[in-house]
Amino acid sequence: MSYTKRDDGRKFDELRKIKAKVGVVKRADGSAMFQMGDTIAIASVYGPRELHPRFLQNPERGVLRCNYDMASFSVTERKKPGPSRRSTEISLVTEKALASVIDLDLFPNTVIDVFIEIIQANAGTRCAGISAAAMALAHAGIPMRDMVAAVSVGKVGDKIVLDLDKEEEDFEEGATDIPVAMTARKREITLLQLDGEVTKDELMEAIKMARKGCEEIYKIQVKTLKEIYKNG
Ligand code: CDP
Repeated sequence: MSYTKRDDGRKFDELRKIKAKVGVVKRADGSAMFQMGDTIAIASVYGPRELHPRFLQNPERGVLRCNYDMASFSVTERKKPGPSRRSTEISLVTEKALASVIDLDLFPNTVIDVFIEIIQANAGTRCAGISAAAMALAHAGIPMRDMVAAVSVGKVGDKIVLDLDKEEEDFEEGATDIPVAMTARKREITLLQLDGEVTKDELMEAIKMARKGCEEIYKIQVKTLKEIYKNG
């Protein structure tokens, strides 16, 4: 099935409009809002703080704990509140996408809690959540080896496209969705999931496109983080 034009007029390799802000949750040690199109994620970081119950503590290194949640009002059809198989999976892959850039050896016996709340969902929520969480960790002053940015890429009809919206995800019998997270300097892939079918060449093209998208996101993350120092 041929896909000739995106509904919102974007080029196939164009991101949705991005808005980012840090310090949105005052009580948290670090926080950030990251919006791509109509998808809005808010991440707040608490810690490092002593991990309870104590038997979960690791005397060698700290624990990164991510909790992804989609608010019941974030989607058109009310989502049942509370954890689900989907949110458990996303929390786990988010943890893995972020853990490698944090120097957890510096924080034995502690936990760094990252809460990601999706307040509006229009596809790509796990990616927006990861981009927000990486900013919130930096805002909390957690030493990081690198920044992490994430974006979804995929195949809609016969085209490889960047940053799918919900309409594109649901195109015909469903598009192929490939969420990707990448470290900024080392360009290491820390998340790669694939829901659907693509050829090897298409996957390579998609990853290349995701890399370009992540580079753009990274620039916005850094610019936003720097602004807080400029504004005091
Ligand atoms: O959000 P993401 O693309 O990371 O994950 P997904 O599981 O592929 O979900 C795609 C989209 O489906 C979400 O972004 C929401 O817009 C929508 N969704 C929904 O409407 N109701 C749910 N219970 C779960 C997802």
